[in-house]
Amino acid sequence: MCGITARVGDDEALDELLTSLTNLEYRGYDSAGVALLDEDLEVCKREGETDALKRAVAEEEPSGSIGIGHTRWSTHGPPSDANAHPHTGCEGRVAVVHNGIIENYESLRTELRSRGHEFTSETDTEVVPHLVEERLTAGHDPEVAFREAVACLEGSFAIALVVEGDETVYATRKGSPLVVGLGDDANYLASDIPAFLEFTDRVVYLEDDDVAVVRPDGVDITGLDGAPLRRESHTVDWAPGDAEKSGYNHYMLKEINEQPFALRQAIEGRTDPAAGEVVLGDLPAGTFEEIDRVQFVACGTSYHASLYGVALLQRRGVPAAAALASEFAADPTPVDGSTLVVAVTQSGETADTLAAIREIEDTDARTLAVTNVVGSTAAREVDDAVFIRAGPEIGVAATKTFSSQVATLGLLAERLHVEAGDGESFDAAFLEGLERIPEAVDQILDRRRAEQVAEAYAGMDSYFFIGRGIGYPVALEGALKFKEITYEHAEGFAAGELKHGPLALVTGTSVVFAIFTGENDEKTLHNVQEVKSRGAPVIAVAPESTTGIHTVADDVIEVPDGPPELSGMLSNVVLQLLSYHAAELRGRPIDKPRNLAKSVTVE
Ligand code: AGP
Ligand code: GLU
Repeated sequence: MCGITARVGDDEALDELLTSLTNLEYRGYDSAGVALLDEDLEVCKREGETDALKRAVAEEEPSGSIGIGHTRWSTHGPPSDANAHPHTGCEGRVAVVHNGIIENYESLRTELRSRGHEFTSETDTEVVPHLVEERLTAGHDPEVAFREAVACLEGSFAIALVVEGDETVYATRKGSPLVVGLGDDANYLASDIPAFLEFTDRVVYLEDDDVAVVRPDGVDITGLDGAPLRRESHTVDWAPGDAEKSGYNHYMLKEINEQPFALRQAIEGRTDPAAGEVVLGDLPAGTFEEIDRVQFVACGTSYHASLYGVALLQRRGVPAAAALASEFAADPTPVDGSTLVVAVTQSGETADTLAAIREIEDTDARTLAVTNVVGSTAAREVDDAVFIRAGPEIGVAATKTFSSQVATLGLLAERLHVEAGDGESFDAAFLEGLERIPEAVDQILDRRRAEQVAEAYAGMDSYFFIGRGIGYPVALEGALKFKEITYEHAEGFAAGELKHGPLALVTGTSVVFAIFTGENDEKTLHNVQEVKSRGAPVIAVAPESTTGIHTVADDVIEVPDGPPELSGMLSNVVLQLLSYHAAELRGRPIDKPRNLAKSVTVE
């Protein structure tokens, strides 16, 4: 959600700044802008896509070796040129980009107005340059002015600032991500690593309340009080090409196709079915011996992966539940030292999920993050983190990270099975099945069935997805993916729930996708017959050896046979492809669906 970037060097910053902004587009935005500092401070910003900014830049020709840039996802004030960032003060001496929300902005505005400041935007952000400017006028140096201004702010934010006459970018974060990039010819700042990955792979993750002073020849990090801090630098193992489309029309399709590789990475070195071992990061054997139940907190697709995890755990004798993070934060489930709270979050920056973990930080519960992003806030705020190793996911619709989350939760479920559940040893058949999943996904990717079905059922009014057991979270995920990128009406239901209400929606102009897994298939078939008799076409997504469906369903999309527990991962890949092709037929902006952002950093 929104992106900040900065480039601080001795040569022209604009080109790399614009590249970084393009690389941040996937996060979701509605306007973009840059500020460049040479002798003067020049700001150029536009509502709309970065192309509008690029056209404006070509006309206005701002230049400078110190630059900050922003893609805005509006929270205060509609998208407009005036509300786009960077924002300046009354005198135009400072420029600020901000991600997040400044909660006390109204009282700050009132105070600033009473001291003669005039505002040109409706944003909460604009108080910051005025606060800084006031302190500069009072004779403070820029760093002190920045620290003092930040101390006035309440809320969640990442902020970067430039000041006329000072070849430095000042930045801080509180609840919103910000990463420093250390390059040979320049230093960088960004909300996310892909922004500058093509310029450097050496990064420093900032923590809340860190202040980074970024100069062409180095970066100093201190606390808000000015005390120097040591923050390790890391070399990221994502190659620049990982964050590019590599010939695919959309990131989403590339990421769907990357799943065999991503899954191999998630599993590699973590299982040894022969020796009956599951190794998860640096969590020593016995880590979970005190645990007697698991509580997941997550949002969206990660919530669906958590529901899949619940099913895997309960089958292994470990009581488990999943809560939508925003609801958990509102009404936390009681937890104690025997509860493992697992935050499942691709980005590790989702505000609702972070709020849920923070709700229980004063309890004895053990916390674990299952995330894709090393150094993310979630990874740092929990007791332990396990990485899903999916590589960067740029498309707003989560695809490969769902598969990698489920694979990782499968490994976690096996650990808990033995350490906290009723298992005496690891389930070799399950672990072997998991190792074969990448190959099975490869087979699905080679077929064109989902594309044909997307085309055949393009004109329907509603798209329903039903499943039972492991098929239920897959049905929910199938519907989420379908609605978010096609904009069609789509809902996911537990197959058995249809007759308790949703069946009233089923008509000849709705289509029902039924997920079969090899477990309880007769019951799901029964539900399919209920749907058929209301005139709706049914498409079954089922393992090859499933019997009895071909005479009932209008179409069947087969997935390779395997352990029923893992079959849902395969059906999910089919549904990803279905959504992708359905969205492509409708000409939707697949990687950046309207109103949505990749990383949702506001509650
Ligand atoms: C799904 O396609 C969305 N991108 C969304 O539901 C996402 O899964 C949710 O916002 C949670 O994000 P996270 O995994 O980064 O926490
Ligand atoms: N709250 C700020 C605004 O509305 C920043 C939003 C963002 O994170 O992009 O402009």
